[in-house]
Amino acid sequence: MSNIRFYDQVVIVTGAGGGLGRAYALEFAKRGAKVVVNDLGGSGSGIGENSKAADSVVAKIKEFGGDAVANYDSVEFGERIVQTAIDNYGRIDIVINNAGFLRDVSFTKMQDRDWQKIFNVHVDGAYSVTKAAWPYMQAQGFGRIIFTTSAAGIYGNFGQANYSAAKSALLGLGKTLAIEGARKNVYSNVIAPIAGSRLTETIWDEEILKATSPEYVVPLVIKLCDENSVENGGVFEVGASWFAKIRTERSKGVAFGVENNVSAEQVASRWADICNFEQSEPALDIGSTFVAVGDMVGLDLLAKKTNK
Ligand code: NAI
Repeated sequence: MSNIRFYDQVVIVTGAGGGLGRAYALEFAKRGAKVVVNDLGGSGSGIGENSKAADSVVAKIKEFGGDAVANYDSVEFGERIVQTAIDNYGRIDIVINNAGFLRDVSFTKMQDRDWQKIFNVHVDGAYSVTKAAWPYMQAQGFGRIIFTTSAAGIYGNFGQANYSAAKSALLGLGKTLAIEGARKNVYSNVIAPIAGSRLTETIWDEEILKATSPEYVVPLVIKLCDENSVENGGVFEVGASWFAKIRTERSKGVAFGVENNVSAEQVASRWADICNFEQSEPALDIGSTFVAVGDMVGLDLLAKKTNK
């Protein structure tokens, strides 16, 4: 087991003033990375600004002899955050898209601004920072990017239509950038953390908060960002020292034959078979969809089109 080090590497951690981001920033710095500690320093619902959050983490890193610089921009201004890395350290190797907050409310009561603000920060923010870092990573033939989804983004959750939709968007973004970046050694992975933090302190009790300290999530992020790691496009659930990988699954399905006009009633009559997972297979990429439908209806052309 070799030690994972980030000497000469520069990492941006967004929302690093507290919670998970702070824990990532401290560990990257301990392992030799130069860290851009980004945090807008607003409230738990994304209101206001304050430089203290980022400053205190930079001070902590400097205390143990690490190298870090603060950035106070909202993640919506990704170019400025990446520019901070370039101006101070001349490069960018790793982006941890972590900044975020909640505006939980039932869909019935949701206001347009609750929807928009969550998308602005989680989706546009991750897009903006990653988009600005991307050309540097492509040019140097190395990059590691983490996107932060949530169990709500994978499964849905009551009262989180805005948050779960935004977190699902990050799943799609991470998976597609994994495909687009692979050739240039720019790898993207998506994590769904469980952590006691400002985000969760109002909903969980003290015992759970303690058992899910952000530090338990950090090893996964460090591992995925290691230059020797070949993991790309993965989705992971992680918390309380538990690490697991998520994948989607496809039922065998029912093919009625393309020469037949299939009615809704016929579909209804085979519903149990359509939803039967006894002969299911992992559904790992877009090509597998065409292969599965091609196999089931006997259309070789469809299967060959995308069979790699
Ligand atoms: P946290 O509230 O402790 O930390 C989030 C940080 O992001 C705060 O310091 C905040 O100031 C910063 N931030 C918010 N908006 C920003 C913006 N526009 N620009 C820059 N910084 C901004 O929350 P926590 O728990 O550490 O969350 C980190 C990420 O993990 C978030 O994306 C969250 O949605 C996600 N997550 C957390 C879970 C948990 O159990 N704590 C569960 C699932 C996902």
